[in-house]
Amino acid sequence: MEELVDIITKSKYLLALTGSGISAESGIPTFRGKDGLWKEYRPEELATLQAFKKNPTLVWEWYDWRRSLIARASPNDAHKVLAWLEERDVLKMLITQNVDGLHRRAGNKKIIELHGNIWRMKCMSCNNEVENYETPLKEIPPKCNVCHSMLRPSVVWFGESLDPFLLNQSILHSSRCDVMMVIGTSAVIQPAASLPIMAKNNRAVLIEINPSETPISPIADYSLRLKASVAMKSLVGLSSEI
Ligand code: OAD
Repeated sequence: MEELVDIITKSKYLLALTGSGISAESGIPTFRGKDGLWKEYRPEELATLQAFKKNPTLVWEWYDWRRSLIARASPNDAHKVLAWLEERDVLKMLITQNVDGLHRRAGNKKIIELHGNIWRMKCMSCNNEVENYETPLKEIPPKCNVCHSMLRPSVVWFGESLDPFLLNQSILHSSRCDVMMVIGTSAVIQPAASLPIMAKNNRAVLIEINPSETPISPIADYSLRLKASVAMKSLVGLSSEI
């Protein structure tokens, strides 16, 4: 731990990559694992464009449930420590696969939301994009205020491409960083899972924080088998300089 504090303190370009595990202690279920969403629900029925076209009401009801859950949740200590690191200009960028918006609520501003954001919706027809924080939604499916077509959640579904600009930015940051913290991701969904590999290929120090082993573990320089909030709080607690 003390060694890690030193590495983080002396880093020139600290980058973090987060996944659903960082929000687990805020009460938001992860996707994989014992209590993961994909144990109870089938991704192909809820998280694909085909599923949405077939049954938009069902998909929106699922998103409405998740939005309500997230609205009741608060950022946990792991989110807060990342915000604290950004405030002190130690953390240069945060790449997240999460759509819950908790990093922003914790105070981070330099964020790349690779998989979109559950609080944004976009029109299936005219591409108009809006922010909407209503929970529960009054109208399901919600309608576009410009052309009255159906809105969809502004998130990336299975089979869809990531925003090329955001992906490019993520690749640039991953190639540039000298330390990358990989927190709470199973690292199985591409292309996000390749970012730590890119960082490592460019000689960055990889620090993984995850109670379980992942495909990143064998190349990680440090693996903290701890919950995100415990690990992040210990790192900050040990530091007088960050
Ligand atoms: P996963 O559900 O695949 O993985 C969550 C990871 O968090 C696992 O490796 C857990 O061991 C770890 N974990 C659980 N509790 C934790 C805690 N308290 N602290 C730290 N780690 C903890 O979630 P992601 O890797 O984010 O994509 O999944 C990637 C993508 O797959 C998601 O963005 C989503 C999903 O399908 C889309 O919806 C496009």
